[in-house]
Amino acid sequence: MDVRTAIRQRRAYRSLAPAAIGDELIADLAECAGLAPSCFNKQPWRFVFARGEGALSRLRSAMNPGNEWTNEASLIVAVCTRRDLDCVMKDGREYALFDTGMASANLILRATELGLVAHPIAGYDPVKVRTILEIPADLTVVTLINIGSRADAIRRGLPDWAVAAESARPERLPFERFAFIDRYQG
Ligand SMILES: Cc1cc2nc3c(=O)[nH]c(=O)nc-3n(C[C@H](O)[C@H](O)[C@H](O)COP(=O)(O)O)c2cc1C
Repeated sequence: MDVRTAIRQRRAYRSLAPAAIGDELIADLAECAGLAPSCFNKQPWRFVFARGEGALSRLRSAMNPGNEWTNEASLIVAVCTRRDLDCVMKDGREYALFDTGMASANLILRATELGLVAHPIAGYDPVKVRTILEIPADLTVVTLINIGSRADAIRRGLPDWAVAAESARPERLPFERFAFIDRYQG
């Protein structure tokens, strides 16, 4: 699969079915994430791959209402970082979240290439997640990436907007709203 195809194929589906999560898959996803660029190669990302039934069921209790569809995830990747693990420029620019986001995108696209759904979320209690996964308190849990196979049928109980999103990608901004040539025109 070429990169463009993976980018187009990736979707935040909410109807998940079980997927086999072996050590090789985790190593593969971690390798692809870890090959992302980062400021001075600081590699500020940290990932916890939760695949055991105990960890997964405890994580379910940390999800916000509306994210019950994550109950069917076979692997939940907690993506963590800390400001000082990456460049903090004198003028205030900080790169930990940016670089961790690039690593996460690599992981998500690789999962897509492998035929999996990889859906990042912000709707969870980060304090609970840290406790469940024994993540140090000074790390930010930036996202949980929910991974599984795509279910054949749409999950029951999804709200109408989410049902619609299972078949049609939510709309994107047109080129002229976010891309400019030669000068900013927003
Ligand atoms: C940082 C972030 C947080 C998100 N949080 C949630 C969430 O809590 N629950 C959810 O169902 N989807 C969540 N999503 C998925 C987005 O709703 C989805 O990516 C967006 O609607 C675009 O759809 P698409 O990814 O299928 O193109 C999140 C995505 C990102 C990147």
